[in-house]
Amino acid sequence: MFFEPAKNDHGLPYNPIKACVVPRPIGWITTVNKAGDINVAPFSFFNVLSYNPPFCMFSAGGHAEDHEDKDTVANIKETGEFVYNMATWDQREQMNQTGLIIDREQDELAQTGLEGIPSNMVAPPRIKGSPVQFECTLHEIVVLPGDSKMFVHHAVFGQVVGVHIADEAISEDGIFEVARVRPIARLGYKDYSWVDETNMFQMEKRTPEELIGKPPQAAE
Ligand SMILES: Cc1cc2nc3c(=O)[nH]c(=O)nc-3n(C[C@H](O)[C@H](O)[C@H](O)COP(=O)(O)O)c2cc1C
Repeated sequence: MFFEPAKNDHGLPYNPIKACVVPRPIGWITTVNKAGDINVAPFSFFNVLSYNPPFCMFSAGGHAEDHEDKDTVANIKETGEFVYNMATWDQREQMNQTGLIIDREQDELAQTGLEGIPSNMVAPPRIKGSPVQFECTLHEIVVLPGDSKMFVHHAVFGQVVGVHIADEAISEDGIFEVARVRPIARLGYKDYSWVDETNMFQMEKRTPEELIGKPPQAAE
């Protein structure tokens, strides 16, 4: 099939776009407003973009027709800081609950039985139990046009200024063993995925000689 997003002529019951780029890591983002009220929300339009120094990005749509920004974006515009927390299998239910839209002043951490722990370099707390957290300062917000206010997206770019990794997840030879923490990721529709040792595989990096230097063996 082929369709043009401008015409939305896919003819399917649901727009398949989000199912076409999978799995998407979930940026579980904590922020505070100027008054210090804590907000937490998951964003699957999320990724790390570079390193030395590292930057990461998430993209948030509008709240609804009557609101400009989701609370996460409003808070970041006010304070210029956010924390990425890795969402894992163990905390999947809480992660899902924090996807609900509630009042900006209400502490979504406390409401979902989650605990915040202080960050080192920014004001928003980290989520206790999450095995990786990036403390970020705002680099830039890029506004992506949408068909209506709700579909206007704010792509928020942050510089990662502090990195926490759970000690239990680091192997004796210094490798972050991601399978130990089972991160979850978003697929399309209601589907999710996860990473553990049963669905990982390794490939050696090939040298140019290996790839093009040796002509394929002629068939006997
Ligand atoms: C797994 C998951 C992924 C989500 N990804 C996004 C996303 O990438 N962008 C977005 O605007 N909303 C996304 N949402 C919805 C927001 O999390 C939801 O609107 C959230 O409550 C906004 O909260 P806030 O107003 O406190 O910022 C996602 C929800 C879930 C459960």
